[in-house]
Amino acid sequence: MNQKHNIVIKRYDPEKEKAYEVKFEVDAEKVKTVLDALILLKQSVANDLAFRFACKMGICGSCGAIVNGKPVLMCQTFCRDLTGPIIIEPLKNFRIVKDLVVDIEKVMNRLRDALPYTNFATNKAYEQIPQNPDQYQKFIQASQCIKCMLCHSACPLLTTNKKFMGPMPAASGFRYNQDNRDKISKQRMNSMTSEDGIYGCNFVGECSNVCPKNVDPAKCLQKLKVAGVLHSVKGKK
Ligand code: FES
Repeated sequence: MNQKHNIVIKRYDPEKEKAYEVKFEVDAEKVKTVLDALILLKQSVANDLAFRFACKMGICGSCGAIVNGKPVLMCQTFCRDLTGPIIIEPLKNFRIVKDLVVDIEKVMNRLRDALPYTNFATNKAYEQIPQNPDQYQKFIQASQCIKCMLCHSACPLLTTNKKFMGPMPAASGFRYNQDNRDKISKQRMNSMTSEDGIYGCNFVGECSNVCPKNVDPAKCLQKLKVAGVLHSVKGKK
């Protein structure tokens, strides 16, 4: 007899404003990852099931969910590695749109506050700005962020302080502050040290524990806090 995976999905119906749970069995031979199982269920018995995915290879960052209590990328989570029923829930600290789809607009707005781009401050359109390996190494780790929102879901502070900018925007701001080509770090620090900015972090570290790309947003936040103090001492202009 074929082995089965027991899948429990915590769904949400926005029209009835009702959360409910559904249980399925999936043939273990037909699926490898949790995302595979959801796709199979959608194609067979639950075609109204809502969830996001695109690349299936841990790059696009769209398939985040809580699986057996931990925020993960479903395309990178193998059913064979999980014990007991596989319980799938939407990411925490977000408004649920439907089933496993959450509304990330607020976090993306906070990302804008972190000015996540370099401003070369040059008048020449194609001017080259040299960068040596040491300068590159300063931001390569933080630049691996795929905006999957697992850190945001894992952060316990966001459950009590919904205005805290959160680890993902902070890590992005840190990445651009470290870039030797950038000319707007003062504006970025003005924005990130304002009320509800980086100082909302208490260094719990859960964001770094769940990051699938080893960005280490907790470390970025602590470095930003030190930089924020220096920024205040030196003057914000
Ligand atoms: Fe793109 Fe999982 S589907 S990261």
